[in-house]
Amino acid sequence: MQTAAKVSMIALAAMGVPVNAASSNADARAAQLVRQMTQEEKLSLVTSDMPLMMGKNRPAEAVIGAGYVAGVPRLGIPPLRETDASLGVANLMNLRRDDIATALPSTLSLASSWNPVLAHEAGAMIGAEARAKRFNVMLAGGVNLVREPRGGRSFEYPSEDPLLAGTIVGAQVAGIQSNGIISTIKHFAFNSQETGRSVVNAVIDEPSARESDLLAFQIALERGRPGSVMSAYNKVNGDWASENDWLLNQVLKRDWGFAGWVMSDWGNVHSTAKAALAGLDQQSGKGLDSKPFFGKPLDDAVASGEVPPARLDDMALRVVRSSIAAGLLDRSDVSEVQPIDYDANARVAQKAAEQGMVLLKNEGDLLPLARSVRTIVAIGGHADVGVLSGGGSTQVRPVGGPALELRPDHPGPASAFARQTYVRSSPLQALQARFPDARVTFVDGSDPAAASGAAAAADIAIVFAEEWRTEAEDRQSLSLPGRQDELIAAVAGANPRTVVVLETGGAVLMPWADKVGAILEAWYPGQRGGQALAALLAGDTAPSGRLPITFPAGEDQLPRPKLDGVAQVDAAIRDSSGKPNYGLLNNVPTFDADYRIEGAKVGYKWFAAKGLKPLFPFGYGLTYTSFGYDGLKARGGTAPSVSIQVTNTGKVAGVAVPQFYAHVRVRGETVTRLVGWQRIQLKPGERRTVNIAIDPRLLASYNPELPGWEIAKGTVALVVGEHAGDVKAEQTLALSARRLKP
Ligand code: GLC
Repeated sequence: MQTAAKVSMIALAAMGVPVNAASSNADARAAQLVRQMTQEEKLSLVTSDMPLMMGKNRPAEAVIGAGYVAGVPRLGIPPLRETDASLGVANLMNLRRDDIATALPSTLSLASSWNPVLAHEAGAMIGAEARAKRFNVMLAGGVNLVREPRGGRSFEYPSEDPLLAGTIVGAQVAGIQSNGIISTIKHFAFNSQETGRSVVNAVIDEPSARESDLLAFQIALERGRPGSVMSAYNKVNGDWASENDWLLNQVLKRDWGFAGWVMSDWGNVHSTAKAALAGLDQQSGKGLDSKPFFGKPLDDAVASGEVPPARLDDMALRVVRSSIAAGLLDRSDVSEVQPIDYDANARVAQKAAEQGMVLLKNEGDLLPLARSVRTIVAIGGHADVGVLSGGGSTQVRPVGGPALELRPDHPGPASAFARQTYVRSSPLQALQARFPDARVTFVDGSDPAAASGAAAAADIAIVFAEEWRTEAEDRQSLSLPGRQDELIAAVAGANPRTVVVLETGGAVLMPWADKVGAILEAWYPGQRGGQALAALLAGDTAPSGRLPITFPAGEDQLPRPKLDGVAQVDAAIRDSSGKPNYGLLNNVPTFDADYRIEGAKVGYKWFAAKGLKPLFPFGYGLTYTSFGYDGLKARGGTAPSVSIQVTNTGKVAGVAVPQFYAHVRVRGETVTRLVGWQRIQLKPGERRTVNIAIDPRLLASYNPELPGWEIAKGTVALVVGEHAGDVKAEQTLALSARRLKP
């Protein structure tokens, strides 16, 4: 099985350049071009416009999308056309009139596959569509940890664990860039919540920062080699991320050697000299900011000496060198949209959905559905028309057009631009096609009594529970919206052969979990989510997903039982009549989110440290067979590794995902950390060996005094299991003292 690192090397090779040659070549060529530039040409590279805000000044080459950076035709530097994002070529509010694209499943779903090769393939597919639509920058690569389980953008992010997050998103970014376009990773850093997102101040100590969110970015950068990094809206330890010298100059550029450019998020710049000197290289969507900080004000700041000319040269150079590395200067700019094979791309989306769905319960092997089943009733979740997708800048206008678009059922920051959108892939129609001899009917679920009556009369009841999440808003609780819990309980009471299919943007509570027969987390399953669901329910393919996030048993288990900032936002947006007016969001005062509470112990690490039992643990997922594990071997020293033999002990083929966890002493406490895994497909009775090299940083603690990572001489317990907290076998890993650079 390829590792993500090999996959990213393949990606770079696909761009026709070996890794080191690309960087030095790109830097040298870029420097040579910048030396020829006028001040005006340099300034044109460090600002992007929103094409729609350009009005009559919008040149034909500025395709309607998220951003446009004028090139320098005189020097053969093409314009940059920027589109969102990680789930496909976005078309928020249908701004690019009826332009459709393949909708990938959510990033949580992609991460649930634990499959970097699939992530690369998914990235390659959406990157190809972006390039065919004339975009050359994809604002993808959301790699923030799901630190806040109620986070509105949790569906866009991969995991609570830095190794899984960085590996999956790094592979996806490499896939996107394999098309000869630039990807970002974002939002750097600690963009964990949407409530007060542009004023919340993430407070965290450096060791915890380096061992959690920053490690996810570092791994994604190493594996994906993105041409650009997008700064986050929020503050980090007092400074906005877009003008944070520690984040941008010290961590990203000095310690990690990032040679690409840092773009701001849209409407996220707050100064000229401070931001430029802190390491910001480009103001994005300048019309959304209070002023064009990187336009005339930057010219003046250079003229006055407040910003050295060399800094502006470096800003321009970084944009150009990433353009060169992506091959943009070595091919003619496209003027026409190219053909796209949407059927082939939908098959990639379906494969991703099938590998991303997570079977959480399967009492009495209720699934796969028996061939003898005669009557199935599908209930709720708009399953008659399609599958849910997440709201905000990632919104793709799916192939076939949306099956349904609903206004949010509550006022909020997102209601101005987000719609609850369903992808045209009806689970009901997919089930009817897959079970032609059965009677498969639909009840909308609005009336629990009617639904339970229909369930009582059927062999199988499948309730589709939905939870819409969107950029700009967090969930206020982890409970399913509306009366869905009541609906599920009523249906399960009428028929114990009830399957619950969850279409959620993150973890949800399940008060009915012990009443139903089976639970399948489908996330937002994308372009062929309905067909993927039917294939899993029928057993055409076995579920193989594993949770990339912990599902808590209650919000009281969380480091922050209540979201930070809700009261501050609520107070700030009240207008004179006392009604909420979301146009007043800019009045929200800065408030702290104290991430020192959990530090680097995000998700399962927190549950382990506190001895808490979640509803479903990180890494958990069932399939239609079982596995045996033996022969665990752990090798220490300077190149730690681990191996195990895995056997399919069941009657059908299936995918095992053995996970390796280390219990590492860090600053006086023992922390559990995922240090490796592998997806392995096994036939009944088949036995294979899994070998994993362990990144030594995962066995280390970060010491700012060095600065760097340090491994103490000694031993750590190394466990293999099927999820966090599970112990199939345990070994001791002997470690020699080591120091590693930041
Ligand atoms: C947004 C998002 C960012 C997106 C950008 C452009 O507000 O935070 O993820 O890429 O604007 O649409």
